[in-house]
Amino acid sequence: STAGGVDRYEITQRETVGEILPGVRTPLWTYGGSFPGPTVEARRGRPTVVTHRNELPVPTVVHLHGGRTPAESDGYPTDLVLPGSWSEHRHGGGMPGMPGMADPRAVQSRVVREYTFPNEQRATMLWYHDHRMDYTAPAIWRGLAGLHLVRDDSERALELPDGEREVPLVITDRAFAADGSLAYPSLDPALRDRPGVQEPYAAGVLGDVILVNGAPWPVHEVAAVRHRLRLLNASNARHYEIEAVDQDGRTLDLVQIGADQGLLAAPVTHRRLPLAPAERYDLLVDFGAVKTGGTVRLLNRLGSGRTREVMAFRVVRQERDDSRVPAVLSTDLPQWRREEAVRVREFAFRAGRMGEGHGWLIGGRPFDPAREDVSVRLGDLEVWRLIADVHHPVHLHLVGFRILSRGGRAPLPHDAGLKDTVSLRPGEAAEIITRFDGYRGRYLFHCHNAEHEDMGMMANLEVR
Ligand code: C2O
Ligand code: CU
Ligand code: CU
Repeated sequence: STAGGVDRYEITQRETVGEILPGVRTPLWTYGGSFPGPTVEARRGRPTVVTHRNELPVPTVVHLHGGRTPAESDGYPTDLVLPGSWSEHRHGGGMPGMPGMADPRAVQSRVVREYTFPNEQRATMLWYHDHRMDYTAPAIWRGLAGLHLVRDDSERALELPDGEREVPLVITDRAFAADGSLAYPSLDPALRDRPGVQEPYAAGVLGDVILVNGAPWPVHEVAAVRHRLRLLNASNARHYEIEAVDQDGRTLDLVQIGADQGLLAAPVTHRRLPLAPAERYDLLVDFGAVKTGGTVRLLNRLGSGRTREVMAFRVVRQERDDSRVPAVLSTDLPQWRREEAVRVREFAFRAGRMGEGHGWLIGGRPFDPAREDVSVRLGDLEVWRLIADVHHPVHLHLVGFRILSRGGRAPLPHDAGLKDTVSLRPGEAAEIITRFDGYRGRYLFHCHNAEHEDMGMMANLEVR
């Protein structure tokens, strides 16, 4: 609803049984009964107030990924929306180790929770997802993810393909158990308590079924015109390398017009596009040369067998197309220069070694909500050097950043624009630059391999 200069959404988080595979009943955790959850449509500068009611059996946390959000609405991992069934738990002796659950006065207000998103940021595709400490990965896996689109006038002025010709694609992988439920190793009682089972999923949980917008390998019918495809990799751990191939084996250009944090300065054309967890790419793909009845498959060059296929577009009609690829997309990208940075910090993202405990570490330490890891001054421009042992998609809350270098060299073509997630490749060091502006408060940075995040690869970022 729309009133008083804000847009309001109400979302009930609840269990539901969906049909993802034909004829198979799959229990899900959802935002509002669907997976993905409802898409929030926002206008730049006009706040969105989302009221979340938690009817799931567990506490949850809502985070708007890529949002420039005041800390109290950013979804800190211990800032819980308690389950509606909380009173039963309370009389049953409470839930040990759940911070903030001891005070009954705090409880009522936290079953229903209002999050305010100012949308004071460039037009782009954000996504919201669960962020509870230690349990983010299984919660997203069960379905807690949705899109949040921010629009603005400068984007509108470009007259990009819209309506049916603008297609958000939420790409995830999932595995299914024999009973139709989503199979997740740590949720499987047969595996959970067996020693050594951490091994198979410490690298992250993968599925063998690729879902786009919650459907397995969908075929989307299109007119033979240019489309705007807005890709999100909402998978827990799977990386993709996307390629579009028509029925004759010809590769279509992927014309990138935007990154995580909105439009590029100018388009960048790719034949293949790597897509790490949490990354978004805004693409123009022209089906104009495909004849009616033809098919364009989106492939994942990193997959094998069934995971090599993502989805397909079937061209079902010819239509007039006045669209074009604008030569200039935006002129407001920050042009931060290394020489102007007041500080350089360095963080190693690596597996814990013997004697360091389990899991995944940043700077040699696993996440601890009680510890301050990094304190930055509001408005400061900083360079961060991020070093990885294996693949780690690193995400900062609150700010967008630019990628300065990879492996001591210039960034790659797909690193263009403003990002909020940088995909560090194995053994690679990358430098990013950002200005910590917007809001003061406690934020986070972490690996967006969701299992890595749950196993400690997250740190506090205090903006003062
Ligand atoms: Cu997509 Cu800290 O999150
Ligand atoms: Cu985020
Ligand atoms: Cu990681």
